[in-house]
Amino acid sequence: MPYVFKKQIFGFMDLLRFKKMVPKRRRKLAEGSAAPLPETYRVNETAKILHPGFQRAVLVSVKEETADTKTFTFQTERPFYFRAGQYATLGCGVEKSVLSRPYSISSAPEDALKRKVSFTVKKAGFFSGYLFDEAKEGDVFTLGDPSGDFCYEPLKDAKHVVALAGGSGITPFYSMAQAIADGTEDFRLTIFYGANTEKDIIFRSELDKLASEKIRVIYVLSDEEKEGFEHGFIGAELIQKYVSGDFTVMMCGPQAMYAYADGQLAAFSLPLRRVKKEANCVGVRDVKPQTFTLTVHIGFETFSVPADARETVLTAMERAGLRVPAKCRAGGCGFCHSKLVSGKFSLAGADKRRLADAKFGYIHPCCSYPDSDMELIVPKA
Ligand code: FES
Repeated sequence: MPYVFKKQIFGFMDLLRFKKMVPKRRRKLAEGSAAPLPETYRVNETAKILHPGFQRAVLVSVKEETADTKTFTFQTERPFYFRAGQYATLGCGVEKSVLSRPYSISSAPEDALKRKVSFTVKKAGFFSGYLFDEAKEGDVFTLGDPSGDFCYEPLKDAKHVVALAGGSGITPFYSMAQAIADGTEDFRLTIFYGANTEKDIIFRSELDKLASEKIRVIYVLSDEEKEGFEHGFIGAELIQKYVSGDFTVMMCGPQAMYAYADGQLAAFSLPLRRVKKEANCVGVRDVKPQTFTLTVHIGFETFSVPADARETVLTAMERAGLRVPAKCRAGGCGFCHSKLVSGKFSLAGADKRRLADAKFGYIHPCCSYPDSDMELIVPKA
């Protein structure tokens, strides 16, 4: 049976308007300027200045903090806008490899406006070891844009942040403390800072100088008992001794500290959103040595590179000197996201890919270990 249209007054008006639409558009087009559209807009130019992607950074000072920790300060080409708690990727060529690694920024956001940014690095792993032993003033590095969301969020977080820092995990909190002291950030910060011994404490005098109504540091030594320090590990009882009321927990340190802290924090029944953890870079896995071959397509080029089963796919590509995108190296940012054409892999920890990525065969090379020869399409860095 044919469809019967109901004629209504408003429907009729719509038809009239529709009839006029084509001539109206033609008239507008005829009246428009024939000048081509600008290729770029001011807002895009400003965004490029603020976030260039990568910039050149010259190492201007190296300061020894403890026996195995140094602070590296860089002069950047442009002001480096970041939020206290964020990280940035530092990179350079070492022999035939192109290396990069994310580090939490330890300096204040205010310093970055004067084109200075610092990273406090513990000697561990290949790139950090290179920085520690080889890097000298005047050396040139590439510096990626600031990234990460390990920051204070006034809309989501409590006004009081309880920071759990382990070893060099103090770096983002030191940046936050400086930002609170200079008025860039506005929240209360209580830092429980765990170190093995007093000698291992980084920024001791700087943190003590920053102490105020808003900033408090409790030093916790695991291997020493000394007056003026707490002893043991950062547990529920210790937190209860110094903290009451509503708070957000932020933690940065080794994976073992997170596992312990998770158990201890159960006593506070905090909602999930009130506990934030800084992600750790994926390291080597403990399997027997075995070498696979990666076939890597980047743009119109194809490379064949060896991949050690103990190291991630990203590390294999970097060792071979390929310039590939990477930021967090922990599966969180999605920057290294690559299409898997064939091959098997194992994930380091939880699968942090979006559901669609997993479904359509995308992987994060930064947290995937090769279990066979693999073929990948990798975006250009
Ligand atoms: S580098 Fe961030 S997900 Fe791989």
